[in-house]
Amino acid sequence: MATALQITIQIDVLTGAHELSELEQQTMQMAEEAANDAYAPYSNFYVGAALLLENGSLFKGSNQENAAYPSGLCAERTALFAMSAHFPKQKVKLIAVAARRQHQLHYLPVTPCGACRQVMSEYEFKQQEAIPVLLHGPDGTFYRCRSVQDLLPLQFTKDSLLKL
Ligand code: THU
Repeated sequence: MATALQITIQIDVLTGAHELSELEQQTMQMAEEAANDAYAPYSNFYVGAALLLENGSLFKGSNQENAAYPSGLCAERTALFAMSAHFPKQKVKLIAVAARRQHQLHYLPVTPCGACRQVMSEYEFKQQEAIPVLLHGPDGTFYRCRSVQDLLPLQFTKDSLLKL
């Protein structure tokens, strides 16, 4: 008889910005600012991502769309690929993501797409240290995942290839 594998994930729910640390607030603020730089003429969905690096600097990215739709890229991957290209040895201490519609000021409770989770997972695995992910939740709350693993259980990683 089959047994059930139960996977539990934990997400911290914070009631407002006052419950975030100073660095978390700054990183989320950078993600919100980054959303202003989105190039999203097709979806009008403006997404910003910010990375807090171990040297204390902040690195940002925004979604970049294209007339050939699949050629565009999400904010999270834009930020992570650029970060890794510029600072390949820096560890990422936190990822914050903020999304809003073009003419709206409020941020939406958006979680990263599957492809971005996979890319986040790659860098988490590479640095051998959990990367917390901070998101806007509903009604002014924030969601803090302690690790990318919580967003992507049963990950496919470099190790999976080595097991072949
Ligand atoms: N998008 C992101 O940048 N990040 C996400 O986590 C979800 C979706 C972008 C891709 C596309 O430019 C637009 O939002 C609509 O899907």
